[in-house]
Amino acid sequence: MNHLLTMDQLSNRMIYSLLENAGRMKRGEQKTWKGRFAANLFLEPSTRTRQSFHVAERRMQMEVLEMEAEQSSLLKGESLYDSVRTLEAIGTDILVIRQSERDSLQELSECKGISIINAGDGTGEHPTQSLLDLFTIYEEFGCFKGLTVTIAGDIKHSRVARSNAYALKQLGAEVQFSSPDEWKEPGKTYVTMDEAVASSDVLMLLRIQKERHDWEGDIPDYLTDYGLTKERERRMKSHSIILHPAPVNRGVEIDSALVECQKSRIFTQMNNGVYMRMAIIDELMGGKHNENNKCVPMERELFATM
Ligand code: CP
Repeated sequence: MNHLLTMDQLSNRMIYSLLENAGRMKRGEQKTWKGRFAANLFLEPSTRTRQSFHVAERRMQMEVLEMEAEQSSLLKGESLYDSVRTLEAIGTDILVIRQSERDSLQELSECKGISIINAGDGTGEHPTQSLLDLFTIYEEFGCFKGLTVTIAGDIKHSRVARSNAYALKQLGAEVQFSSPDEWKEPGKTYVTMDEAVASSDVLMLLRIQKERHDWEGDIPDYLTDYGLTKERERRMKSHSIILHPAPVNRGVEIDSALVECQKSRIFTQMNNGVYMRMAIIDELMGGKHNENNKCVPMERELFATM
């Protein structure tokens, strides 16, 4: 694997390999890419993805370049492609990038010397979120076949929904959706939230992507009509779990009291995000170089010791 841009590039075999590797990292296995360079470029706001990549990179002893868009030459009109080629030319191994335009990272896959990780491309995909969600589900149930997963909320604008729907189906889960009519996408199976709580093993809630449309609805009505209320939570299956990629809008898609309830794995997802991102970086670095790291250029070895 040279880049991670979309979930449809990953076979089940690769997904399971990442899940197993993330599990080993969580159990304390150390993998280091000491002296190698990772750059994080976030052109849209982020707390979890950006900081968990930073933690993952530092835990693997990488040198981290935190790029600020407003301090970069993107502001002088340099194209994203030329900026990435520049990072590649100066020896950056990994580029984690979030930006607002869907599918615009494909052209960067021509860059062979640097591995691009899609940290969210508008309404397109969010593969690292999907993989950490899969890790959280796998940790809980040890399988995907036979599980019913409901993805609920702003389906039309959610990159998390897109990545997860694809991957979960490929892995054999039953995937259904729950959404207000205006955010439904055609060709999907929809249930009401009342039906969702009764049938789901995994209930994945989504934030309303207000930055991508002009929603002016009534928040208490949204919770009552489409969200997870305390009353609905009581009707969930005993073994079922609640996921949410966060940030959470408490009292909108979920009652505030449920964010840290016994069924919630929301903060576990964030914790798992660090290990999954370590596994992804390790896979990409391993793909660029042989497993014994023998092809590290001499100047890099020298630089690492300075
Ligand atoms: N889940 C997620 O992508 O969160 P951030 O926007 O805070 O990175």
